[in-house]
Amino acid sequence: MDRLRKMNSNPTNRLTATRTVFSFIFILCLSFLNTVDARQLPDTGTYKNGMVVCAMPQASQVGLDILKKGGNAVDAAIAVQFALEVTHPQAGNIAGGGFMVYRSASGKTNTLDFREKAPAAASRNMFLDSTGTVIPNMSLATRQASGVPGSVDGMAEAFKKYGSLKWAELVQPAIDLARNGFPITRKLAADLNYGRGQFIKLNPGKNYLLKEGGWKEGDLLVQEDLAKTLELIRDKGRDGFYKGKVADEIAAEMKAGNGLITKADLENYHAVWRPAITGSYKGYRIITMPPPSSGGIALLQLLQSVESYPLSRWGFNRDSTVQLMVEAERRVYADRSKYLGDPDFYKVPVDSLLNPAYNKKRMSTFSWAAATPSQSVLPGTFAGYESDQTTHYSIVDKAGNAVSITTTLNGGFGSKIFVGGAGFLLNNEMDDFSSKPGVPNMFGLVGGKANSIEPGKRMLSSMTPTIIEKNGRLFMVDGTPGGSTIITSVFQTILDVTDFGMDMQHAVDAKRFHHQWLPDEVTEEKGALDDATKAILTKKGYVIKDIGGIGRVDAILVTPTGYQGGADPRGDDTKLGW
Ligand code: GLY
Repeated sequence: MDRLRKMNSNPTNRLTATRTVFSFIFILCLSFLNTVDARQLPDTGTYKNGMVVCAMPQASQVGLDILKKGGNAVDAAIAVQFALEVTHPQAGNIAGGGFMVYRSASGKTNTLDFREKAPAAASRNMFLDSTGTVIPNMSLATRQASGVPGSVDGMAEAFKKYGSLKWAELVQPAIDLARNGFPITRKLAADLNYGRGQFIKLNPGKNYLLKEGGWKEGDLLVQEDLAKTLELIRDKGRDGFYKGKVADEIAAEMKAGNGLITKADLENYHAVWRPAITGSYKGYRIITMPPPSSGGIALLQLLQSVESYPLSRWGFNRDSTVQLMVEAERRVYADRSKYLGDPDFYKVPVDSLLNPAYNKKRMSTFSWAAATPSQSVLPGTFAGYESDQTTHYSIVDKAGNAVSITTTLNGGFGSKIFVGGAGFLLNNEMDDFSSKPGVPNMFGLVGGKANSIEPGKRMLSSMTPTIIEKNGRLFMVDGTPGGSTIITSVFQTILDVTDFGMDMQHAVDAKRFHHQWLPDEVTEEKGALDDATKAILTKKGYVIKDIGGIGRVDAILVTPTGYQGGADPRGDDTKLGW
């Protein structure tokens, strides 16, 4: 069993947090926590029978126990999802949503979209005032900020199709963790303490997740209300959440503060199976998430954009490598702003965006001499076109079935609003819609019609759960939280392995940088780019800013001796194998 990794760092949505007061306060507070423990050397041990890598040690243990009981990767994923709700309230969830990418041991692929949906009463301009201006924080820290949750239905769907143990066995470990409590990590204690003001302000009269005198590492977090909610899910499946007592409690919470989610919204929610989108990169096959994630398409565009260049000769994070990747990112995020949205509402031009000739043409407009200003890069055109907090886990079982799931409440602790009596936090995923064309969301992302608010529509996501094959066999399982930086973190982790020859842990540890078209700046984890590289790029016109942390990648690599995990030292992420 691998050792537990416990290190502090900032939340991954720090990059654009200043765009709203809500996120600013949260992120500013966490900036004081960026004290990194003395590093241990990466453990590159391998395991033949299975591996779980996720955000919290207790949840990884739950997943590993399920694998050891004979459960498959999907069984373990379901148990981990519920265990993360208890142990990682910043992002683990039953009232959020997410995406699963699945590859069976025999190579069959599938994806499950359990992204939240806009409630039936949502409307395009719901976050604008009478002058048409976006109302600060309304899409983040109110009951209107919540989309109809998808996670419980997603887990029930995944179980129906692929589960092999009993459903109750998969939910019970989370109930035990909630009822008996678990000792919290230093990071969770710090995050809870910094969230305290918002918890009090947004939940008058309730003291859930608050502790007199503040939390400290090792304190026991007991969540009895949540244990009762999880028991209903254990006993009644999806109906334990979308009908009856919990649905009543969600509807009552909404009524208490102008929220929009109704019992009918809950009952009508259904996760959707969608075929994976696939692409190739230097002989590898990339299996990833289709819209309403922008992540899969953007990742494939990025890989196409850099494929013909000698990255490994240039070297990891050297100036040519960084310049090329940044210019690719600039163009791909410009496309994202215009063309990506919920495919059930908007015709996403998938084939055009993934046409290698299109991406080659896009890259032909950049010059090695100077940065291309983002203002001069519009979303591309093509003939025939019609029109932070998150968490990730990667699991592989003994047979070789692989699951890559990214799931989210959006902001840290979601909207920070609890469902009274039910013991869980609501998402603030409505902020992932474009409230108004051209106005950035919490992550600084802009959008337009493709991602405008409509009743029943899913908001665009950057989540990029991905599985990679080499020579027809499973090679890597990858993904991360991090809002807009998710796509570029997955992109970099792949290149770190395929082009720069890193093992899984080193690839996860490696420092990252990011560009997203607007704002026109390169953000880097301090030290990602050395001084000489920064000097060359700055001279060419690139604006480079240090930020605290980018992404929390949890990934698995298949090596000749077994599964090799990479658990991100930026969080409490933990890899366990057997
Ligand atoms: N809430 C972040 C994302 O879905 O991209």
